[in-house]
Amino acid sequence: MCDMATIGIMDSGVGGLSVFREIRRLLPSEHYVYYSDSANCPYGEKDSEFIRERCREIARLMVSRGADAMVIACNTATAAAISMLRSEFSMPFIGMEPAVKPAALGTRTGVIGVLATAGTLKGSNYLKLKSGVQDGIKVVEHVGSGFVELVEEGELDGTHAEATVADSLRPLLAAGADVIVLGCTHYPFLLPMLEKVAGPGVRFIDPAPAVARHLLDILAQKGIATDDAQPGVELLSSGDPERLKKSFVSLLGGI
Ligand code: DGL
Repeated sequence: MCDMATIGIMDSGVGGLSVFREIRRLLPSEHYVYYSDSANCPYGEKDSEFIRERCREIARLMVSRGADAMVIACNTATAAAISMLRSEFSMPFIGMEPAVKPAALGTRTGVIGVLATAGTLKGSNYLKLKSGVQDGIKVVEHVGSGFVELVEEGELDGTHAEATVADSLRPLLAAGADVIVLGCTHYPFLLPMLEKVAGPGVRFIDPAPAVARHLLDILAQKGIATDDAQPGVELLSSGDPERLKKSFVSLLGGI
């Protein structure tokens, strides 16, 4: 019996680290391979076929590294590629989905906001989620323009970050949203700034803890052993690996 569990995690950049952070909280002793497609970041406005091709390549790489399961820690890549990945590869894939359902249950004003990339907002998965929201609840959405760039640069505070966050948040607040879904894995790193701009009375939902619990269930269901003999994280990037290591340390506070 094999007692090694290797979990692959991918994103267009460092956003997936917000998901990795939650996964590692639940499963601290696994072996992780994190792939940042930095050379092609951001994915938000890219053609779906291009994103599918990148995901296929990265999944092949994960297979060659012995991954038992792979987390697509990117809403945009999930929207474009998860069906293809599930049909072409045999390992389980765990994807992201904007937390529209929990937001709809939690709103008091009857208006929920969704911040995500253009690719996620036009995806059929999101459109289906939105159309399933109960009558009487309004969903307003906006692209978090410039958010990915801020997080990639590690610019999480200051006047430029504040103005960028305020520009995308304003229409959602003006519409009366009191619960706002973070539909892109980069955005949770901007949570302190989002909360500052929105003020009290607005709640943000990061789906990462739910995704981490889902991964745990899938590993149990598939009988994939946890508690690796060699826990740790391997950081891979299509861009500069040193830069990824630095971001990892500054965003998560250590390896
Ligand atoms: N972090 C990604 C997401 O969750 C992608 C952001 C981007 O590259 O535009 O959608």
